[in-house]
Amino acid sequence: MNRFLAVGSSTLRARQKYSKSNSIFFQKKNSSSISDSNNVSTKHPNSDLNPPINPSSIKTNHTSNNTKFTHFGFETVPEQSKEKLVGNVFSNVAKKYDIMNDAMSGGIHRLWKDHFIRKMAPLPGTKLLDVAGGTGDIAERFLNFTSQKYNDTSSSVHLVDINPDMLNEGKSRFSGSSWEKNDQINFSLGNAEDLSFIPDNSYDVYTIAFGIRNCTHIDRVVKEAHRVLKKGGCFMCLEFSKVNNPIISEIYDIFSFKLIPEIGQLLANDRESYKYLVESIRKFPDQESFANIIREAGFFVSNPGYENLSFGVASIHIGYKL
Ligand SMILES: C[S@@+](CC[C@H](N)C(=O)[O-])C[C@H]1O[C@@H](n2cnc3c(N)ncnc32)[C@H](O)[C@@H]1O
Repeated sequence: MNRFLAVGSSTLRARQKYSKSNSIFFQKKNSSSISDSNNVSTKHPNSDLNPPINPSSIKTNHTSNNTKFTHFGFETVPEQSKEKLVGNVFSNVAKKYDIMNDAMSGGIHRLWKDHFIRKMAPLPGTKLLDVAGGTGDIAERFLNFTSQKYNDTSSSVHLVDINPDMLNEGKSRFSGSSWEKNDQINFSLGNAEDLSFIPDNSYDVYTIAFGIRNCTHIDRVVKEAHRVLKKGGCFMCLEFSKVNNPIISEIYDIFSFKLIPEIGQLLANDRESYKYLVESIRKFPDQESFANIIREAGFFVSNPGYENLSFGVASIHIGYKL
């Protein structure tokens, strides 16, 4: 069975299950039972798009019965459901992940990732923790960089991901490689929000690429990054971000909301997953707000603390643990 078909159906089924069985658990954008003051259910005035959220909306919503809500794309779901819904998306796209990434970014994600590693400029012996590392794009680029530039065999990557299917794709990428033989790559199943199996002050660099927007509590992810980094260590995040140029932004919106779901439908018979991925980008904080979250976690962040790529379609955020 086509795995893309499966993701569409499973995500859709999950959405339908919530919306039918308990409407309070799956609120549509303009639902009145969730406070509009924190934007989660506020509709964009001029289109069908939601504006990016501000940091206060990342802290979840509460109702009188104390159920906490968060966003899954443009939908509002109970916090405890998000992880499973995100898990469904990635379990089912795992085998075709590169196609998905290429479709979402027009292939440009490869250039962004190359730039990300050049910016990191790792030295021999660097210990990298790559969280939400998925199929290993960042890990492989990192190891390529240190091997090719320094002929180095002492750098290492610990790749952590919450999803066993994505992790398995990562493992098979490195299977039989000299990096695997040299023990330069290791894998763990784990949640970015709770890396308690990793000691404090243990890594030189922490990376998270296109992963953090899928996490339920972004602030917890960044705090964990701060804990596990050594003093002087560097936090680096590559994530879809906010386009500031109004003309580019309009073109990007059309591409994202009209074309990407259609590409998903055409390539994979799966509109729903692609819709989630696009929506999740719009729900992620803008560059300044995210830089502040990194500061609040204790990192030193210079001004502005980020670099826009392709007009802000993506951005790289950096913070140092002093
Ligand atoms: C879009 S992929 C990015 C993969 C890889 N970093 C890359 O750039 O190609 C997002 C990854 O985040 C993972 N993920 C989502 N939520 C997570 C969490 N709470 N903790 C760890 N990984 C998570 C997913 O399983 C998926 O592998």
